[in-house]
Amino acid sequence: MKFLGVNKLIEIRQLTKQYGHIVAVSDLDLEIKEGEIFALLGPNGAGKTTTIRMLTMLTKPTSGTALINGYDVTRELDKVKKEIGVVPQHMNLDQELTAWENLELHGRLYKIPATERRKRIEELLQYVELEDRARELVSRFSGGMKRRLMIARALMHWPKVLFLDEPTVGLDPQTRRKIWDLIRRMNSEGMTVLLTTHYIEEAEILCHRVGIMDKGKLIALGTPGELKKRVGEVVVETFGGKDTGYKFFATREEALAYASQVDGDVLIRESNLEDVFVELTGRKVVD
Ligand SMILES: Nc1ncnc2c1ncn2[C@@H]1O[C@H](COP(=O)(O)OP(=O)(O)OP(=O)(O)O)[C@@H](O)[C@H]1O
Ligand SMILES: [Mg+2]
Repeated sequence: MKFLGVNKLIEIRQLTKQYGHIVAVSDLDLEIKEGEIFALLGPNGAGKTTTIRMLTMLTKPTSGTALINGYDVTRELDKVKKEIGVVPQHMNLDQELTAWENLELHGRLYKIPATERRKRIEELLQYVELEDRARELVSRFSGGMKRRLMIARALMHWPKVLFLDEPTVGLDPQTRRKIWDLIRRMNSEGMTVLLTTHYIEEAEILCHRVGIMDKGKLIALGTPGELKKRVGEVVVETFGGKDTGYKFFATREEALAYASQVDGDVLIRESNLEDVFVELTGRKVVD
């Protein structure tokens, strides 16, 4: 059953995944609206990939539900499959095939008719700036080229929502920015994007809203601005002994008042998402 007029493109209710005694994702409730770029942020093992795997039907939830554009990921597999594009964490292109052949294979799997398929492949290779490399084996591609080809492949069947698991891991800063531009461009053309990342600045710069996961649980949710407000927009760092101390304030005046009473070195700066994460979990995002 499709529910008409939903602008909640993804609706997750009490989604849980257990592997034996490990609870990888615990009671996750989350809604993502059409047109959003949403980031799941969290340290290694937080449950980000498991969440994406459940939403993209690669693994079954232990309990709970998730709807994509109104379709249930546990019961309406064919319908969900048409709505989603997936770029997994690990490279899974066929390295012995060319860029063109990889897209061709995907197009056939999705039963896109030959003429349309050819047009779509040309269009997408151009979109990700690989048109000159169409006939080259993927094994000769750089990491950034492979990533772009994976994005092109995920877009082949005109999905409504794109899932990207760590889209820029291991890429150099220029290539990372290229991927960000690509994500922004897709989004400005109407694509809803759910991505996971370890990179705070990626979530902060690129995403409308961020969910912070830790040990399988969603521990914070909001726009980067809202999350920073929550801990305090101004930080005073104090250096003494071994550790740096962090104290958060709503305003610069309050921060200055505090800093003026501190002995030793102090630094006053704006807070960022990493501060939010450390404050909420007591841990660094990247261990
Ligand atoms: N197939 C599996 N079998 C058993 N345990 C698993 C499996 N997949 C994930 N887990 C466990 O579930 C937890 C969450 O893992 P997950 O891969 O979702 O984390 P993540 O947030 O994506 O981490 P990373 O940042 O390292 O990619 C971890 O404790 C992991 O060991
Ligand atoms: Mg992961």
